[in-house]
Amino acid sequence: MKAFKASLPLALDFQVGAIKHIGEKVEPFGKKVFLMIDPFLQDSDLVAQITGSLVERGIGFVDFYDIVPNPRHTTIDHAVVMVREAGCDVVVAVGGGSAIDSAKAVAFVAVHGGRCWDYTERLGETVTRPQSRGLPLLVVPTTSGTGTEATPFAVINNPELGLKCAIVNPFIYPNVALIDPQILVSMPPRLTALTAIDTFCHALEAFISIHCTPWVEMVALEAIRLFAANALRCVQQGEDLEARASMAFASTLGGMAIASAGVTVSHALGQPLGAMTDAPHGGTVAASTPYVVSWTLPVCTDKFARVAGILEPSTLSLTEGDRALRLPDILKSLFASLGVTDTFRSYGLRPEQVDDFALTVWTSFNQDLACHPKKINNKEEVADIVRMCF
Ligand SMILES: NC(=O)c1ccc[n+]([C@@H]2O[C@H](COP(=O)([O-])OP(=O)(O)OC[C@H]3O[C@@H](n4cnc5c(N)ncnc54)[C@H](O)[C@@H]3O)[C@@H](O)[C@H]2O)c1
Ligand SMILES: [Fe+2]
Repeated sequence: MKAFKASLPLALDFQVGAIKHIGEKVEPFGKKVFLMIDPFLQDSDLVAQITGSLVERGIGFVDFYDIVPNPRHTTIDHAVVMVREAGCDVVVAVGGGSAIDSAKAVAFVAVHGGRCWDYTERLGETVTRPQSRGLPLLVVPTTSGTGTEATPFAVINNPELGLKCAIVNPFIYPNVALIDPQILVSMPPRLTALTAIDTFCHALEAFISIHCTPWVEMVALEAIRLFAANALRCVQQGEDLEARASMAFASTLGGMAIASAGVTVSHALGQPLGAMTDAPHGGTVAASTPYVVSWTLPVCTDKFARVAGILEPSTLSLTEGDRALRLPDILKSLFASLGVTDTFRSYGLRPEQVDDFALTVWTSFNQDLACHPKKINNKEEVADIVRMCF
């Protein structure tokens, strides 16, 4: 068996109603919270419950709602100034991946100083990589997709440079993640579908990554099974708490898988597409993944065949090779059944932009390309894959 290491340096608290105990969870960490709340929750009963629970425990707070999808580096720098001026000693985030990634960066930069963008990984540039934790951080996901509660990454957007890059640091994990399936029932069908596909792509990409280990394989395949059994139910019957809980678990498992094995080409193409066009993250990886699988075959035939068998059990009668060949079409029709038919063209990328786009992928997402099981030798090969995604 391949040697491996695995760790999950955070406490996961997974239960319906967990949010009601947020004050109790925050108490050991500090006295004044920087409370970063996804703007869709502004003036909601949930926020009243959260702030009520903090006040009950004598914990002060400063609230912050200025969060946009594909979170901006400038927002984080601004929030860091507020944290310092208000003397906050703990950060709490309630929201989607963008809110949680923002909070991970704020908690980190508030302690270590400087500008958020300087912490992001960019090939050939000087990167700030602190070797200790930031402020204590508690997160409450309101989407089931990114798994960011269980990763050492925070993905940050720099629209001035047209780049979305990640802080990658083992000290950026939250201290606590409260996962409360009740909160997830408010997700509308399209957001539910896009985020579920993101989870699937994390699991698939970690499973085929050259860094996949027996640990990652177990975690990723369980995430794929849970996605296959629950994504459509969550889209069609959003109130189904059992399905919501299972997708939330899949999302956390997907995060754990990429935390160990990284992502591959689909995410390397999806992230810059999100930066250029502000497309939703799940849609960008939905648009690339079937074509990336086609391009990768026959490399990874055995793994693609296993995934096809989970998603479409009727293919189990086929040979391994034939089952793997069916995977791109299985993915296209599965994503379409969830209502997601987005393409690079529909997000506004124009054919004449492909070469520049491929250069960005090649220079800024080399780490992800390097995890892919089929070697990518140059930016021209990246451009070939991008053209397939139109
Ligand atoms: N750090 C990581 O490990 C990691 C992994 C994958 C993706 N990401 C990043 O996460 C971001 C995407 O996060 P996301 O997919 O969760 O979406 P998001 O956080 O960008 O939210 C999308 C929209 O949905 C709204 N929203 C969130 N929860 C809702 C709910 N329950 N009901 C109604 N509306 C709701 C938000 O206000 C926002 O307008 C991207 O920037 C992506 O790059 C990070
Ligand atoms: Fe993702």
